[in-house]
Amino acid sequence: MTTAEIKALDEQYYMKTFGERIPVSFVRGEGVNLYSDSGDTYKDFLAGIAVSAVGHNHPVLTEAIVNQAKSVLHVSNYYYIEQQAKLAQKIVENSCADRVFFGNSGAEANEGAIKLAKIYHYKKGNTEKYEIITLVNSFHGRTLATVAATGQEKFSAPYHPLTPGFQYVPINDLEAFKNAVTDKTCAVMVEMIQGESGVHPVDKAYIKEVYDICKEKDILLIADEVQTGMGRTGTLFAYEQFGIEPDIFTLAKALGGGVPIGAVCAKEFAAEAFGPSDHGSTFGGNPLACAAGLAVFEVFEKEGLVENSKAVGGYMKEKLLTLAEKYSIIKEVRGEGLMLGVEFKDAIAGDIKHDLFDKKYLTGATATTLRILPPLIITKADADAFVDVLETVLKEKAI
Ligand SMILES: Cc1ncc(COP(=O)(O)O)c(C=O)c1O
Repeated sequence: MTTAEIKALDEQYYMKTFGERIPVSFVRGEGVNLYSDSGDTYKDFLAGIAVSAVGHNHPVLTEAIVNQAKSVLHVSNYYYIEQQAKLAQKIVENSCADRVFFGNSGAEANEGAIKLAKIYHYKKGNTEKYEIITLVNSFHGRTLATVAATGQEKFSAPYHPLTPGFQYVPINDLEAFKNAVTDKTCAVMVEMIQGESGVHPVDKAYIKEVYDICKEKDILLIADEVQTGMGRTGTLFAYEQFGIEPDIFTLAKALGGGVPIGAVCAKEFAAEAFGPSDHGSTFGGNPLACAAGLAVFEVFEKEGLVENSKAVGGYMKEKLLTLAEKYSIIKEVRGEGLMLGVEFKDAIAGDIKHDLFDKKYLTGATATTLRILPPLIITKADADAFVDVLETVLKEKAI
């Protein structure tokens, strides 16, 4: 089918949640490349929004998925599942968590984290501790509780009355945080680097103070690592760079390398609040998704992808900073590892993204910030080529 034919079907049958899409469809991928139906090769510097960490069609991941599909795709959580137990072990052995629960997406992982925080206090008899503080401009998902958690009206306005109990405070404003804490505060949920709103990191000193207050007042600190986790920021989990250990953190996106999976990961004292039937999932942690997750970890270890993210990300950031010195339209370059954002002084990031698309590069954009989220396998040469193309775009725009 041509893209035009797919578009016609989409317009007739699909709900309009994604509006007018970019007019391309991809038929194959390999590494950082995506091949379109019309034979064009695109460099994927978006990675399905921070999903395809090991690149497209990685042989280890593809083989794990195929082999798992040939043996057993799915069984109920009534039974023991080897891949699930092993993937939970992998995450625990590489993080501050003691236990893991698998769901199917980032929003679902965050729902699980919110439920875990609430039940933790409930089981201690603190039924009045149910408020959760999140940050303005955060993004935590599209389900009813996670749109309420998301500190952006544009996502929640049509869905009132919202799940109650969420309070929003501006990022890096300690006084605002302190003022929002009450005896009812149950948890704080933060992205270490806000992704969807344009790559905004929390300050190290701020999050450390928040952490200390949480410890003092028995408030659970939840790190939403759906986007920042799995090596994206140059460490396996972003919290490692901020001098804190969250009580609960969530994963999704890159964990399955493209196969849907989400995870709630928690320290024992919090995790133990979930007892039989307090939470559950039909698909969560099934053999296919967990085999994919194990393959992702295998590739990370064999190919040193976390280290690569840090090295190539740091290299690309330096190059982008050099670009910022030459082009005054660039306001700021932010981010860590291969989660980078270039903020422009005007709302031109969407235009830049389209110009890059015309030059066969896929990126993301908010109004002012170009979002760069390539697979973690990219080389310095890939980064050089991308920055050169971005410079060409800036030159052509004469800015
Ligand atoms: C930080 C963060 N949390 C949660 C989500 C929601 O994940 P999903 O779309 O898999 O539900 C996203 C998605 O972009 C995200 O960036």
